[in-house]
Amino acid sequence: MIVVTGATGNVGRELVRRLIEAGESVTAVARHVTAVPDGVRALAADLTDPDSLRPALDGADALFLMLPGDVLGARDGVSKVVDLARLSGVRRVVLLTSQSAASRPESAGHGQRVLEFEEDVRRSGMEWTIVRPGGIASNAFAWAESIRTGRTMAAPFAEVGLPLVDPDDIAAVAAAVLREPAAHQGRIYELTGPELVNPRQIAAAIGAALGEPVEFVEQTREQARAQMLTFMPEPVVDGTLAILGEPNERELRISPDVEDVLGRRPNPFSAWAERNVVAFR
Ligand SMILES: NC(=O)c1ccc[n+]([C@@H]2O[C@H](COP(=O)([O-])OP(=O)(O)OC[C@H]3O[C@@H](n4cnc5c(N)ncnc54)[C@H](OP(=O)(O)O)[C@@H]3O)[C@@H](O)[C@H]2O)c1
Repeated sequence: MIVVTGATGNVGRELVRRLIEAGESVTAVARHVTAVPDGVRALAADLTDPDSLRPALDGADALFLMLPGDVLGARDGVSKVVDLARLSGVRRVVLLTSQSAASRPESAGHGQRVLEFEEDVRRSGMEWTIVRPGGIASNAFAWAESIRTGRTMAAPFAEVGLPLVDPDDIAAVAAAVLREPAAHQGRIYELTGPELVNPRQIAAAIGAALGEPVEFVEQTREQARAQMLTFMPEPVVDGTLAILGEPNERELRISPDVEDVLGRRPNPFSAWAERNVVAFR
């Protein structure tokens, strides 16, 4: 039995689908688990309340553990989830963290916390693999409403590109790791897309998928900061703006890891936009 946390999200939903298609038995976990494929055991649990995961972990062999935003502030809770998994007999964990563990290890809002969670898993005594994506293509859902209603997209740093990774590629790597653990044990994979894509190109790719132009409106850093502060804590906002505006060498690097694990190139942003065009229509 493989337990997938975050099972209804961009990554988890596709991971559950892939595992079920491959004949694995899967328990899907989220706070509200809706619309899972046939054959999946669905259990509601909250990662900030480790005890709520007991029924899901009971009898499980493997755990895909992701750390949604509200969990990142709760290290004790995550340590308890890891302890509980080991005590429940789980033998291996695939942990989804973030490239910031390597690119911004000193950043309080990013790498530092992520590294602490990774350390908990590495010291757990269970077999582990860590998957560190860079920026995820599905962040573009943030512009779905403005594109749907006004065919406009506002963002800062129009010309600064990052190698955005398709969440389906993250799911495909996680599925491969969960299905062939021996080949991936103790490995850390950094996952990126195949090319740098900047906000202006994001607007153009979504416009191309729609068959209609999307107007790009460049925000100042301050405008973007004010908007982000309405839904993110300040250190996370400043860390995120630093990555978006002044990415360092590590954040600009095209990683070979998706191709090494899957034997094919990662998907470009345009493929994600075409598959998800309905959200922008
Ligand atoms: N966005 C980026 O650019 C970026 C970059 C690097 C790494 N990451 C990492 O990638 C992951 C994002 O993946 P994603 O796009 O698939 O996320 P997502 O679409 O936002 O999905 C989050 C999932 O987690 C569940 N969830 C949220 N809070 C929970 C809680 N307290 N307890 C249990 N389940 C909870 C959600 O369902 P419910 O709401 O029903 O619980 C949902 O299934 C995060 O771990 C993030 O740290 C993101």
